[in-house]
Amino acid sequence: MTEKSKKTVVLVYSGGLDTSICIPMMKEDYGYDHVVTVTVDVGQSAEDIQQAAEKAKIMGTEHYTVDAKEEFAAEYCFRAVKANAMYEGYPLSTSIARPLIAAKAVEIAQKIGATAFAHGCTGKGNDQFRIEYGIRALMPEAVIHAPIREKNLTRTWEIEYAKKKNIPIQQSLEKIWSIDENLWGRSIEGGRLEEPNFAPPEEIFQWTSSPETAPDVVTTLKIDFKLGVPVALNGEALGASLLVMKANRFAGDNGIGRIDVMEDRMLGLKVRENYECPGAMLILNAHKALEALVLTREEIKFKEKVDAQWSDIAYQGLWWDPFKDDLEAFINQTQKRVTGTVTLRLYKGGMQVIGRESPWALYSEDLASFDTTTFDQRESTGMVKNFGLQQRMFFHLAKKL
Ligand code: ARG
Repeated sequence: MTEKSKKTVVLVYSGGLDTSICIPMMKEDYGYDHVVTVTVDVGQSAEDIQQAAEKAKIMGTEHYTVDAKEEFAAEYCFRAVKANAMYEGYPLSTSIARPLIAAKAVEIAQKIGATAFAHGCTGKGNDQFRIEYGIRALMPEAVIHAPIREKNLTRTWEIEYAKKKNIPIQQSLEKIWSIDENLWGRSIEGGRLEEPNFAPPEEIFQWTSSPETAPDVVTTLKIDFKLGVPVALNGEALGASLLVMKANRFAGDNGIGRIDVMEDRMLGLKVRENYECPGAMLILNAHKALEALVLTREEIKFKEKVDAQWSDIAYQGLWWDPFKDDLEAFINQTQKRVTGTVTLRLYKGGMQVIGRESPWALYSEDLASFDTTTFDQRESTGMVKNFGLQQRMFFHLAKKL
């Protein structure tokens, strides 16, 4: 280990309150003389990315911005699509970004020869698991510091500390929202939102119109899927990240994707969470509709269980766990037929699938229609007669005994 690497720490940096106060702390309390900040662009606003770089400059760190948007959309969001990923009504937007952020921080550390890391996660949330699993999976010798957790800090204390250290922050004691944003959605936490009975104020939403202000006309949208992932919107072929951005716009403008849930965190804490995930909710809804057309009844039933397991693993951030690969082997096999087009109507916070088609459709109008005789109804007689056999036997026994 070189002298430089011993004294260098790589800080996973968003530019927000928690990670910003880590900069002076790494020097003053943890004894590092070189702080390297890494901001991974997974689709948060361009302004956030720029502000993080500016703050890092003001605070004198060596700063890296890593553009991972396309990788995030194609390798993370789209895997979530194939798995219909959902945890307690939340499409895992924050969760799936964390392993990628950890991987990019490790790449920078390897480049500059560092093995020490810091992150701004609290000791109450899930992100500490996801970030640390990721870093340790890819660099087992890593030393990881988590100042907010290790010092048991509160946000009020952090705001005071930031002021004392002249760290520019957006939060005030009134507007204390902690926001996490990426292509797959926004999470808004903190302040009065922590109260399960406090109605989310309109100001927390940035990507979604309220149903009241959404357009008074219906938007019709066609989504083409190929091998389980979306490839075009209204016939326009799009790369992964651009497609997700546009899906966010279509759904968000129509008031779709606001989520307000009580969430069971990994540590067992129940927490009130607000999200807006317009594109994710839209794409997942369409994907499920296409699966319903092409997969067999047993595939769908079994896949629901596989999808739930995949979602748990993704929620926990165990991105490189072999069990995830095992589950994906099944998922990917099913997705070979999830090719086709789904049509949806979006209107004032609601969405409705109004059409689906696929070369793999397990549907035949000729068989199912009321008006055809290809399916000979008379052949059903024997099956109908014997289908409820056990129930019938039980009922007669119960009457007799
Ligand atoms: N509870 C969510 C999760 O564990 C989101 C946390 C997002 N963090 C934030 N500071 N808003 O995935």
